[in-house]
Amino acid sequence: MISLSLQHEPTVIMIFGASGDLTQRKVVPALYNLFLDHWLPERFALIGFARTSFTETSFRKHLREGVDQFSRRSKTNDEDWQAFAPHIHYMSADYSDPAAYTTLSDSLSKMDGEGHTKANHIFYLATPPGNVEVIVQRLGRANLSRDRKRDRIVIEKPFGRDLSSARTLNHTLTSIFDESQIYRIDHYLGKETVQNILSLRFANALFEPIWNRHYIDHVQITVAEDVGVEHRGGYYERAGALRDMIQNHLMQILCLIAMEPPVSFNADEIRNKKVDVLHAIRPIPQEQVNGFAVRGQYGDGWIQGQRASAYREESGVAPDSSTETFAALKLFVDNWRWQDVPFYLRTGKRLPAKVSEVSVQFRPVPHQSFPLSAVRDWQPNRLVVHIQPEEGVLLRIQAKQPGLTMRLSPVDMHFTYQEAFQVTSPDAYEALLLDVMIGDATLFMRADQVEAAWSVVTFILEGWEAVKPPDFPNYSSGTWGPEAAEALIARDERKWLLSTSLEKHKGEET
Ligand SMILES: NC(=O)c1ccc[n+]([C@@H]2O[C@H](COP(=O)([O-])OP(=O)(O)OC[C@H]3O[C@@H](n4cnc5c(N)ncnc54)[C@H](OP(=O)(O)O)[C@@H]3O)[C@@H](O)[C@H]2O)c1
Repeated sequence: MISLSLQHEPTVIMIFGASGDLTQRKVVPALYNLFLDHWLPERFALIGFARTSFTETSFRKHLREGVDQFSRRSKTNDEDWQAFAPHIHYMSADYSDPAAYTTLSDSLSKMDGEGHTKANHIFYLATPPGNVEVIVQRLGRANLSRDRKRDRIVIEKPFGRDLSSARTLNHTLTSIFDESQIYRIDHYLGKETVQNILSLRFANALFEPIWNRHYIDHVQITVAEDVGVEHRGGYYERAGALRDMIQNHLMQILCLIAMEPPVSFNADEIRNKKVDVLHAIRPIPQEQVNGFAVRGQYGDGWIQGQRASAYREESGVAPDSSTETFAALKLFVDNWRWQDVPFYLRTGKRLPAKVSEVSVQFRPVPHQSFPLSAVRDWQPNRLVVHIQPEEGVLLRIQAKQPGLTMRLSPVDMHFTYQEAFQVTSPDAYEALLLDVMIGDATLFMRADQVEAAWSVVTFILEGWEAVKPPDFPNYSSGTWGPEAAEALIARDERKWLLSTSLEKHKGEET
């Protein structure tokens, strides 16, 4: 969380896997924007580490291409880039080569010797998960993990592929680094609108008194993508929607919606409150998985007028793949606040639109005093947090339609970041990288949080893995997922709420 009291402590960030997609597309554009916005310390260095044989010049050129293409700002200009580029260095070596770590350690000591204060050392692992263990071990042996205050390690998702592999990974990490030095990234938590859930709930007196089972009927969390797996078929085959999205992003959003008010914004206080939510989620027994969880896989179809192929035809995907590209869940949080309030979660690829939002659906009014003719269009109140592509909050209320008769109609009060603040929000990686630099772990996942989130989905994973899906592909590209997902919520006499932004567009069309 960006703090205005940033101490400009000297910082060296070492990126392992520096030749890869994440570095070029997200990490370096974010660092460059932080540089342009004067958030980076004067003494800052980026050392790229990978096997690819770049020279320093070709590495800088490669990163500049990434910034030009992916930064939220338009292309770099020569003057700014030439001010930034000298901070960038490159080392080519194998991740298991002890000599490389000795060189790294010597370079860091030399840099430290050049200034008055020791620099913070951030080891950013942007490599496939299989490399984590060797890198962590080598960093430990080279004494690069010893300084609890200044040595930090950043780990990208996926954080394990089930509870037991997550535990093993946590064990590897915590045998070398202290938990306080470990920053597990879930980039969703860096999004402005996700952070805004905390402000909405805890900086306004309005919501907290009604934020409970007495006033809230249910909550829906939707993270829909219109794209398929694109070039990531190989990775996705081993992941699937439950691992790739629900265990981390959707579960974190659920925690922010359901957590108790924190006493302070201290990192551990916030994380404790989130872990409490995860521990309170009612386990789904394996034999009841079908009643609470639905999986789907996209077939071919049409999206926005374009023909789209089936998941099983994507490159890197098995022709008889059982991997789910859609998942919908019904969860309960068993505590005083939320008892019996369902949380419906759904995510999928090749859905009709790219949209992420949380809908908090309130209960109907206890007594309807208006005549039936007035309430034909009546709807219960709904609070919607738009995460993307729109960023903002919407509150649906009832209003009297203008005219001489009493007729109620739902209307929306809408706050958008763009209109309210007239600025472009920083990218999630900017917020998260800055937090690592200043040592604020609030938006990062602690070991117990990751394990608790895996515990929630474990029975579903096991249930799904035990039985091959008989009906895949079971939804067409460009639709809102399989029919079973509609049935999951229809059984409770509810329905998936159409994204309010899509409703608006639909209204414009008709
Ligand atoms: N890309 C994203 O948007 C994104 C988003 C969230 C999380 N992540 C996670 O971030 C990590 C890196 O993702 P990425 O998309 O940047 O991957 P990538 O493009 O494949 O890059 C991975 C880098 O790791 C190095 N590497 C080391 N051993 C490797 C191996 N056995 N196979 C392939 N590459 C190897 C490669 O560098 P050398 O070959 O030069 O050593 C390569 O530059 C992964 O854990 C991924 O799940 C990525």
